[in-house]
Amino acid sequence: MASHNYCHILLSLLLLFVTLAYQSFANPRMLSLVKPKPLVLKYRDGVLLKGNIKVNLIWYGKFTPAQRAIIVDYLQSLSPKKPHTPAPPSVASWWRTTENYKGGPSIITVGKQIFLHSYPIGKSLNTTHMEDIAFKFHNVNTINVILTASDVLVEDFCMNRCGSHGWTRGKKGMKFAYGWVGNSASQCPGVCAWPFAKPLVGPQIPPLVAPNGDVGVDGMVVNLATVMAGTVTNPFDKGYFMGTPSIPLEAVTACRGIFGSGAFPGFPGRVLVDKVTGSSYNAKGLNGRKYLLPAMWDPKTSTCKPLV
Ligand SMILES: *[C@@H]1O[C@H](CO)[C@@H](O)[C@H](O)[C@H]1NC(C)=O
Repeated sequence: MASHNYCHILLSLLLLFVTLAYQSFANPRMLSLVKPKPLVLKYRDGVLLKGNIKVNLIWYGKFTPAQRAIIVDYLQSLSPKKPHTPAPPSVASWWRTTENYKGGPSIITVGKQIFLHSYPIGKSLNTTHMEDIAFKFHNVNTINVILTASDVLVEDFCMNRCGSHGWTRGKKGMKFAYGWVGNSASQCPGVCAWPFAKPLVGPQIPPLVAPNGDVGVDGMVVNLATVMAGTVTNPFDKGYFMGTPSIPLEAVTACRGIFGSGAFPGFPGRVLVDKVTGSSYNAKGLNGRKYLLPAMWDPKTSTCKPLV
């Protein structure tokens, strides 16, 4: 009965940073005088999702096979079998930071894929609809992730969320976690597929070239990464977060907008560039894939740790 929205904190953080940045320019000494506070996500003593976890993908609306492969390869790159693991920086090395949260590794495998090509409950969904869809396919140690196509409207999509995760109760009253991520390509790429599209507000740096050549779906990977990290480290509102349970800052939302070192509001940070395609990335995955993943908060250092 809870769902965490991503992006709504974004604007207020952005304003805060812009104000801070402005003050720093006005008085350069402030930068050296003010030590950044360590960021602390408090652990609330509840269960996290650890051990073997299946992720079922529920494709709601139309996706091409190429689009689905970008997302499936990303998920399969989280916990790859040893001989296939690419050298860091990789999707697997990014995911390993979740092991620093109490309880050891969360080993992700892709479970079922369910195709709802023909919009069985329409093209406008809210949280109740999401829970209903997730409920149908839920199982133990499974996260159902609903992926909505670019022509599906979702309550608060683009306004204050690009994806979300939540939980509800299953058939025997057991809690289960689910997630949602939407393709923002035609609705709000500047909000939900940044830094691959020009932002609606703030500094207008040129967009980065999307690593898999699909602005909407590469943006979905960023938001899916955010949802996955938030789900395993705060599945039932009693995990790690900062702030209030209804508006929490979690593993990745606490680090919003950071992709590489030297990031500041409007600038994603320094990342790697593929010499052939000119695309930006910071993590290698299986099948020769490249992805751009957001920084994750590391409990060991209490900092947001970009991969590069
Ligand atoms: C979602 O929409 C349905 C009608 O389609 C409505 O019955 C339900 O209460 C709505 N849920 C929320 C959380 O607004």
